[in-house]
Amino acid sequence: MSTVSADPGRTARRSQLFRLKPVDAIIAQQEEEGGHQLRRSMGLLQLTALSIGATLGTGIFVILGEAVPLAGPAVVLGFVLAAVTALFSALSYAELAGSIPVSGSSYSYTYATMGELVAWVCGWCLMLEYGVSVAAVAVGWGAYIDDLASGTIGAVLPEALSAPPGDGGVVNIPAVVVVLLAMVLLLRGTSESARVNTAMVVLKIGVLAFFCVVAFTAFRAGNLAPFVPMGIAGVTAAASQAFFSYIGFDAASTAGDEARDARRDLPRAIVLSLAVVTVVYVLVALAAVGAVPWPQISGSEAALADVLSIATGQTWTAVLLSIGAVIAIASVVLTVLYGQTRILYAMSRDGLVPPVFSRVSARRRIPVANTVIVSVLIALLAGLVPLGELANATSIGTLFAFALVNVGVVLLRRTRPDLPRTFRTPLYPLTPVLGVAFCVLLVFGLGSATWLVFLAWMVVGLGVYFAYGYRHSALRTEV
Ligand code: ALA
Repeated sequence: MSTVSADPGRTARRSQLFRLKPVDAIIAQQEEEGGHQLRRSMGLLQLTALSIGATLGTGIFVILGEAVPLAGPAVVLGFVLAAVTALFSALSYAELAGSIPVSGSSYSYTYATMGELVAWVCGWCLMLEYGVSVAAVAVGWGAYIDDLASGTIGAVLPEALSAPPGDGGVVNIPAVVVVLLAMVLLLRGTSESARVNTAMVVLKIGVLAFFCVVAFTAFRAGNLAPFVPMGIAGVTAAASQAFFSYIGFDAASTAGDEARDARRDLPRAIVLSLAVVTVVYVLVALAAVGAVPWPQISGSEAALADVLSIATGQTWTAVLLSIGAVIAIASVVLTVLYGQTRILYAMSRDGLVPPVFSRVSARRRIPVANTVIVSVLIALLAGLVPLGELANATSIGTLFAFALVNVGVVLLRRTRPDLPRTFRTPLYPLTPVLGVAFCVLLVFGLGSATWLVFLAWMVVGLGVYFAYGYRHSALRTEV
């Protein structure tokens, strides 16, 4: 006798865990809500700036110095290799964003392709990629503000006010301030936030362009020889480091409900933003190792500032780069915070998190309560909690979500070959398969401590799901 027929309740429970939210239902729900929900105010420019805003941040300002000792001048190839890794997943994101053009990013895509439980796991991973990482980024912002203050007015904040308890302080005030500033801006409305973000993106690219112009004038071909002193292993090690600086290109996919033409513009914004940051990173890396002998910036925390000081002998260039970093990181905080609120908005619409997260203000057409709750929680996290290993676990969370998106492309092509697709990944199925392979490879490159923290995070997540999401899911049928 089959156990399935013996226990219909158990079968129904299992079927809820793996129930898909059909693509047509997702799109119909979005269209029904239409005018009462989020305002469609973003075009291709704002969406691309959203993704660039979330991507181009601390990575290029700090990773370069850490990656140079691993690969020497071939750090340039490390950035190219990391871009290729990101590209596979970006193409998959682009395809799914064009076919399921709603807010919620990979959470929504997995709900449509792998069912509720996997979607929850993905959403919980996204909370690492967005919520926890934005807290960590805000902490980094404080360090740059300190640099800037000491470089210009010669003052630094006392330790008690610039570090959380456990890290030698009481509260990290700059981290709290940048998150709350981003909250105030987000509460003014999506188009205002998008406008400020676009300006910040232009400024940060401008500062890096200035860096390239100055560094290329000091370029000596001899600085690049030998080009690969640590061999291919050095290049791949540098690529693993550099991958962090590409995280964020998926931010546009959290804005499906606020894009004027989501089907057309989301895929373009994702691919375009990755192309822009790749060009910027490769040029910056090449300019840096061409301008000075690489051992001089090896291990430097402020490699770009060091390059300019050595190349020009002027200290004001370091101040300019600190200003660039402060703007760059502020725009990461703004856009990643935005992304987190919209992912929770999508999860709340599905009943997996409380309805307060999908309540939209009729006047401002934004999720006000959601924005305030998320921002205050992240400000507390950034200001009071030493994030340590939890911040490192964000890479695993991100890679996990990326892998699911690549799998989602394959599943959706099989189950819904008829679905309109405004973008199709080239070289299918090679691209998504390589996308998964690269994600797995990078996950295995991370330390076991990070793995353990990630596992603990997932156990907590599953506890939350069974305590709340499972019971309140909009797809739940009483058994
Ligand atoms: N890519 C983001 C940064 O570099 C996380 O800050």
